[in-house]
Amino acid sequence: MKLILLGPPGAGKGTQAKRLIDAYGIPQLSTGDMLRAVSKSGSALGNEIAEIMKTGALISDDIIIKMIAARLDESDCKNGFILDGFPRTEAQAEGLDRMLADKGMTLDAVVELTVDVNALVERITGRYTCANCGAGYHDTFQKPKVEGVCDSCGGTEFSRRADDNEATVRDRIKVYDDQTKPIIPHYEHKGLLKRVDGMQDIDAVTASIKTILDAVH
Ligand code: AP5
Ligand code: MG
Ligand code: ZN
Repeated sequence: MKLILLGPPGAGKGTQAKRLIDAYGIPQLSTGDMLRAVSKSGSALGNEIAEIMKTGALISDDIIIKMIAARLDESDCKNGFILDGFPRTEAQAEGLDRMLADKGMTLDAVVELTVDVNALVERITGRYTCANCGAGYHDTFQKPKVEGVCDSCGGTEFSRRADDNEATVRDRIKVYDDQTKPIIPHYEHKGLLKRVDGMQDIDAVTASIKTILDAVH
């Protein structure tokens, strides 16, 4: 299963990708997570990336395409992958087409999660993750079973992203509308685009995605 999860900040790409990893036995390739790992390294490049991410602007296509090309070469991607947050520009979509053609691979589906703007802001400003294992939570919509304790690993430290404040979220949504939405027709023309109502609850969104994937694969 080779899949792209498309959608604005807070649409639920990461939440759904985590569930699909187990269901299909394929890895999640999140460029946002990869960049956050680099930015924590303290290197000059890491600091530069962290500064850009704080504003909600995009990192250069060149860096992103190289990062994904290296990741796709790893053995766990042989049977498929979930792309989360990539591609985000026309140059990235073209870069992906070239990489897949070189490997003799084709995409099975591009799933676009659609969510109202006000819900996006509410989701992002309430989001937090386990500092130990990265499991995702929300102040209202996805609380751990025991308050303050991660369901997955029992960890008690949580963190919030530097770019998860209302002002930056609105900028990120604008960046999505200006730079990422224009790639949607690229996949519509290939007959790969499937739209899912991302306003449903988390389990219902997962069920809708699985119905689509099981039909195309
Ligand atoms: P990235 O990390 O990709 O962030 P994003 O695209 O802005 O998306 P998010 O991770 O914020 O949202 P999500 O859709 O994953 O939502 P989630 O599932 O967590 O990118 C960050 C930055 O890195 C970019 O701004 C850019 O600077 C850089 N970058 C990354 N990729 C790049 C690229 N390719 N090119 C250039 N730059 C790049 O859900 C959000 C919250 O809502 C959670 O708390 C969750 O519990 C809750 N929730 C989820 N689903 C539901 C539901 N159905 N109902 C109720 N609550 C829900
Ligand atoms: Mg995410
Ligand atoms: Zn955890």
